[in-house]
Amino acid sequence: MLIKSPPAWNIPERETTPEGIYLNRREMMKGAAAGTMLAASSMIGAGSALAAQPWDDDPSAKLYPVARNEAYTVARGITPEDLNSKYNNFYEFGSHKQIFRAARRLNVRPWTIKIDGMVEKEMEIDIDDLLAKMPLEERVYRHRCVEAWSMTIPWSGFALKALVDLAAPLGSAKYIEMKTFMDPDVASGQKQFWYPWAYTEGLTMAEATNELAFLVTGTYGHPALNQHGAPLRLAVPWKYGFKSIKSIVQFHFTDKRPTSFWEDIAGKEYGFWANVNPDVPHPRWSQATERALGADKRVPTLIYNGYAEQVAGLYKGMESESLFM
Ligand code: MTE
Repeated sequence: MLIKSPPAWNIPERETTPEGIYLNRREMMKGAAAGTMLAASSMIGAGSALAAQPWDDDPSAKLYPVARNEAYTVARGITPEDLNSKYNNFYEFGSHKQIFRAARRLNVRPWTIKIDGMVEKEMEIDIDDLLAKMPLEERVYRHRCVEAWSMTIPWSGFALKALVDLAAPLGSAKYIEMKTFMDPDVASGQKQFWYPWAYTEGLTMAEATNELAFLVTGTYGHPALNQHGAPLRLAVPWKYGFKSIKSIVQFHFTDKRPTSFWEDIAGKEYGFWANVNPDVPHPRWSQATERALGADKRVPTLIYNGYAEQVAGLYKGMESESLFM
């Protein structure tokens, strides 16, 4: 982010996957889960359904695929998983896009999540116990990185509001501060002392309980890959991607506005609000257009990344704030 001006587009030029192709694959996975594994694998072709998968030992694998919530779809092709899973920002594993191999070092079981601060009862909860309590669904969301690239991804998970309800925050809580794991032996990027680890992000309570705020536990109909922030990652699609913190271990309810990781590093370039707006350029590049991963042409960026109907009301009367950086 900080180091890119302008961003380097170094992925092959291909079109995005038409949704129909993804859906067919998804149907096949469902069939496989229902016990028709052999039939499904012969349809998909050698080496896919029966090949070892990163989630083979994941106890949550049996939960996927989950039913799609049709209220959250996008009139755009879904980004092919092989592109999406090899072009990631996850600075804990390196400041380049090909971190997927390094991210395999992260052990996502056991994984404990702490919920603390201004809540009725602080708790520590195991990811699989949390998954068992939460209403899982699939949503197709846009994702717009501040670097002006974008993707469309089928996330599985649950509304952040469900976790807020579980936490039972006190009336005095105004924000949720979220933190990523800290383990420099596994994530060598965390040895770079000039970054303010652990990666931290924050939302207001109104943002966190907005219908769009989503906690991701799966991608493309299976448990989330490490590079996408397994086992628990945020998706707030109306904001620039850096708000969508990965591999979360803590939700801290507070009355103080958290300082985000990137805000701490370069507050004049990356703010707390970070809502997508094509009319407000980043100090070093335009935000007017974006390049969808795998597509040839740039397309116009939309205010709130296309989600104005759901979120514009959150910011009424806040015109004096830097809402779009
Ligand atoms: N979360 C953590 N912990 N570390 C990171 O470096 N990068 C952010 C966000 N969440 C980041 C993170 C940025 S800049 C983006 S664009 C998205 O993750 C990228 O998500 P993706 O790799 O799944 O596309």
